[in-house]
Amino acid sequence: MDSQTKADPMRVLVTGGSGLVGKAIEHVVKQEGGCLEGEQWTFLSSKEANFVDLQQTRAVFEKYRPTHVIHLAAKVGGLYLHMKENLHFLRDNLRINDNVLQTSHERGVTKVVSCLSSCIFPDKTTYPIDESMIHNGPPHDSNFGYSHAKRMIDIQNRGYFAQHGRRYTAVIPTNVYGPYDNFNFENGHVLSALMHKTYAAKKEGTPLQVWGSGTPRRQFIYSLDVARLFLWVLREYDEIDPIILSVGEEEELPIKDAVEMIADALDFKGQIVFDTSKSDGQMKKTASNAKLRRYLPDFTFTPLSEGIKKTCDWFVNNYDIART
Ligand SMILES: NC(=O)c1ccc[n+]([C@@H]2O[C@H](COP(=O)([O-])OP(=O)(O)OC[C@H]3O[C@@H](n4cnc5c(N)ncnc54)[C@H](OP(=O)(O)O)[C@@H]3O)[C@@H](O)[C@H]2O)c1
Repeated sequence: MDSQTKADPMRVLVTGGSGLVGKAIEHVVKQEGGCLEGEQWTFLSSKEANFVDLQQTRAVFEKYRPTHVIHLAAKVGGLYLHMKENLHFLRDNLRINDNVLQTSHERGVTKVVSCLSSCIFPDKTTYPIDESMIHNGPPHDSNFGYSHAKRMIDIQNRGYFAQHGRRYTAVIPTNVYGPYDNFNFENGHVLSALMHKTYAAKKEGTPLQVWGSGTPRRQFIYSLDVARLFLWVLREYDEIDPIILSVGEEEELPIKDAVEMIADALDFKGQIVFDTSKSDGQMKKTASNAKLRRYLPDFTFTPLSEGIKKTCDWFVNNYDIART
């Protein structure tokens, strides 16, 4: 971090502040002492500014005059929505990212931390994937629009550094889950959609229908862990190159195992059916957290069963406000 930001309290603007990751960062900032004295943190939803629109982007930057930006806003969705709307994902995300990054640059924002995703890596690759491999080949067909738009953030970050000396960087979380996720059956992420399905199956006394074979393997990271790591990146991480935020490779597990943890957490005792007529997506996307571990060897991740239990409890207790 440079001397100017050490001396002056930060004004941090969090785009996408009303989503899964944004709400987790808000929790860490407001409930876990993540906010230092004098700092101002603003959490935006799309209601305050639609970043697809440049004028709205400029207006909200003018209003809050951030020194630092955490850029989470994105058109995001589950596997099936991506397959239906690749072009929308590409165009909206290209615009959102260009508007946020260029406006940050024009207004002299010192640091921007954007959010990429482990699903943007090449489809045909060697494992584990690491930060150097983002651009090494086409992404999986199912989400090529979102992936290419996200990859361009990394290219833009390099460009802002090369041409203007800006220290804009990005993190690459693996599959995030937690309170405030999108629990919609079709458009939600895998764990949150499964939690909602399990909750509904229990209520209705029907079997739990899981889309796909349950064999694809994933690394899941609890949103509060992502949030704590985001704050570290904002304050301490000085590279332009992105950094993967993930549990270790040995913690990648089949979706089937996560389904069992969800069934346990929600006390679901019915039949579990895997619908293999539905697509599985990538069979695995093992990511290395070696770079993160070099910086933070002692960071403790929330165990998956504990995070799933907390998220299921949140969902049950907040069913009325949850995105379903
Ligand atoms: N969830 C994951 O597993 C995962 C994994 C890797 C990376 N990521 C990345 O992490 C970031 C946050 O994801 P999330 O899971 O927290 O998503 P989310 O829960 O769907 O939240 C998306 C956020 O973006 C805002 N947003 C969407 N379109 C916008 C627009 N046009 N203008 C302004 N704001 C807009 C939403 O505002 P509203 O609430 O008003 O709609 C919301 O605050 C994204 O960049 C995503 O790509 C997520």
